[in-house]
Amino acid sequence: MAKKDVTDVALKGKVVLVRADFNVPMKDGEITNDNRIVQALPTLQYILEQGGKVVVFSHLGKVKEESDKAKLSLAPVAKRLSEKLDKEVTFIPETRGEKLESAIQALNEGEILMFENTRFEDVDGKKESKNDPELGKYWASLGDVFVNDAFGTAHREHASNVGISTHLETVAGFLMEKEIKFIGGVVENPDKPVVAILGGAKVSDKIGVIENLLNIADKVLIGGGMAYTFLKAQGKEIGLSLLEADRIEFAKDLLERAGDQIVLPVDGKVAKEFSNDAEITEVSVDEIPEDQESLDIGPKTVELFKQQLEGAHTVVWNGPMGVFEFSNFAQGTIGVCEAIAELKDATTIIGGGDSAAAAMQLGFEDDFTHISTGGGASLEYLEGKELPGIKAIANK
Ligand code: 3PG
Repeated sequence: MAKKDVTDVALKGKVVLVRADFNVPMKDGEITNDNRIVQALPTLQYILEQGGKVVVFSHLGKVKEESDKAKLSLAPVAKRLSEKLDKEVTFIPETRGEKLESAIQALNEGEILMFENTRFEDVDGKKESKNDPELGKYWASLGDVFVNDAFGTAHREHASNVGISTHLETVAGFLMEKEIKFIGGVVENPDKPVVAILGGAKVSDKIGVIENLLNIADKVLIGGGMAYTFLKAQGKEIGLSLLEADRIEFAKDLLERAGDQIVLPVDGKVAKEFSNDAEITEVSVDEIPEDQESLDIGPKTVELFKQQLEGAHTVVWNGPMGVFEFSNFAQGTIGVCEAIAELKDATTIIGGGDSAAAAMQLGFEDDFTHISTGGGASLEYLEGKELPGIKAIANK
């Protein structure tokens, strides 16, 4: 069912509460990737242009005790947002109270303020993360309209996304809408043929996704560390490559049920050490030496995956093909990025997490139809689950 969006409500002169997901990676107080801030801009700009008074908020990290607060303030995010919007963003270092309330009252049309990390409320009884009803009600009382643009948080049922919705009509922001269109589109109504590519280290992280995508996709190509548990299940010797011994039976069962849909690597790049400087040999998956581990898919597998992608109308990819952080083991992931980028008539989607980071880091940012801002949210959506943050948005 289509959801109401920010264009469906009156904004002029209204105090518009906007839940964004500004849970950005930080190192020593510096933002290391501001994609989630950049992706939130269209919604904020639109509301400001319409004469809304914007109150934007988000969580950042996990706040368990008082001492966590110093390093998890949203102040650096407010500063970056102000630079990106080219506009003053007033930062209120509170999550409630007189100072916040009077700052909101003082907002003029087309002005914006951000308040502090919603999870600061977790120190005293996990009020945010346990969706404390009073907290959701209080935050709702601060505004006239609630715009939920925090797709990355949609798998959480917290006060700042679901709680507020109990008290205020909730509409989707443009980012949320885009994520529902593309990630939701894969799950609900994809243009066929569909090819899914799954990678990453662990089978156990992706069980729900593999199961659900096997119901949707014509082919599921498996690379990354998780492929070796499948190869082991086929009886191959995988040397020191990643293995989840307790998932071999699951892999065997899947290969029996859906072996004609699943495509596994045929070669890999093996090394004796887990290091970018290690000596590399390309071998068939039938010849992985017992004292070496495979850290990337090989060129024959890239070719094979390319062939499988030909003619696809929808491609969804989640998880890198190898240890792409090491430049010498990034070729498999780059090859898959290139193969997808060449598909001109397909809707191509990266389901967030490491593969999104890889595609952006490797310079393929503009070559996909959609790169999700969700990590856990995209995975749960691809598993076919209903996400509470989306459910709480009003239907059209
Ligand atoms: C994410 O980064 O996946 C979201 O912001 C949710 O964060 P969380 O896992 O801390 O709830």
